[in-house]
Amino acid sequence: MNRIPELKSTSDPSARLPMIGFGTSQLSDCADTIAHAIELGYRHIDTAWKYPSEVGVGEGIRQSGIARQDIQVTTKVSHEYLRTDDFARSVDESLGRLRLDYVDFLLVHWPTTDGIPLAETMDALARARRQGKARHIGVANFNIALTKEAMRLCPEPLAILQAEYHPYLDQTRLLAFCREVGLMFVSYCPLGRGRVFDDPVLAELARARGKSIAQLALRWQVQQGNISPIPRSANRAHVAESLKVFDFELDDAQMKAIFALRRANGRIANPIGRAPAWD
Ligand SMILES: NC(=O)c1ccc[n+]([C@@H]2O[C@H](COP(=O)([O-])OP(=O)(O)OC[C@H]3O[C@@H](n4cnc5c(N)ncnc54)[C@H](OP(=O)(O)O)[C@@H]3O)[C@@H](O)[C@H]2O)c1
Repeated sequence: MNRIPELKSTSDPSARLPMIGFGTSQLSDCADTIAHAIELGYRHIDTAWKYPSEVGVGEGIRQSGIARQDIQVTTKVSHEYLRTDDFARSVDESLGRLRLDYVDFLLVHWPTTDGIPLAETMDALARARRQGKARHIGVANFNIALTKEAMRLCPEPLAILQAEYHPYLDQTRLLAFCREVGLMFVSYCPLGRGRVFDDPVLAELARARGKSIAQLALRWQVQQGNISPIPRSANRAHVAESLKVFDFELDDAQMKAIFALRRANGRIANPIGRAPAWD
């Protein structure tokens, strides 16, 4: 097994992340899948209080036999629980389901829709880090303005911004912002939740390169730098395939052909009333 190359954060210089991670939304009873992914070489597992996977993620880590400190786990606090006490309770519930003493990354899952002051949430997030319940912290689904405000208000440094990214979504501004401020960009729905597999342009590029569509879509992301996609799969062959993206490069024309797939309505996770004004 080859080690996956890593990203580094400069906003929180002690934070590192493998350039590919493993997504688990919609996975339940997933201990075997997680253990298998770890055996193949995945070292970052993404879960959330909201997902049915926290218990299975913890079990899978123990089942894999790989030392806890060699695996990174992300979990997230849901937007309903961003008040001080709710936040602390959510973190404890996540650790209880995972049966872990700490997570490596603790994120706010979505911005508040209830007017909860961001300063209160950032204090709660920082406290979890200071208590040793999270080694590093970050946000998900925040736009640039909200992330800037979060970084200003948070007493501890943020390391990660997690947001949607795939060939149909233009994230130029958010990616440039993350590079500028030193946040590692974790890309969710990196396969467009399966939409990439019906794409004739990707199919032709994949055929020409002798790679799968998934490998092409993931390679396009990691090759841009400072991006760590977290594809989800319950299929063992797919799990193995998605890891094999570090032994080839796309040329400029191939990168441009994938960038050209971006479209105005390409966003998948866009809950009405919950989404911020996207960049
Ligand atoms: N922070 C947030 O708000 C947020 C929102 C959405 C997602 N996420 C995170 O991001 C992760 C990934 O996003 P996602 O699960 O929505 O979608 P995704 O990873 O873009 O797509 C998952 C789909 O792709 C298929 N697939 C995966 N690898 C494949 C391969 N190599 N070949 C063919 N098919 C493949 C899977 O089917 P099979 O099982 O059949 O392989 C599944 O149907 C989530 O699991 C979650 O951890 C976070």
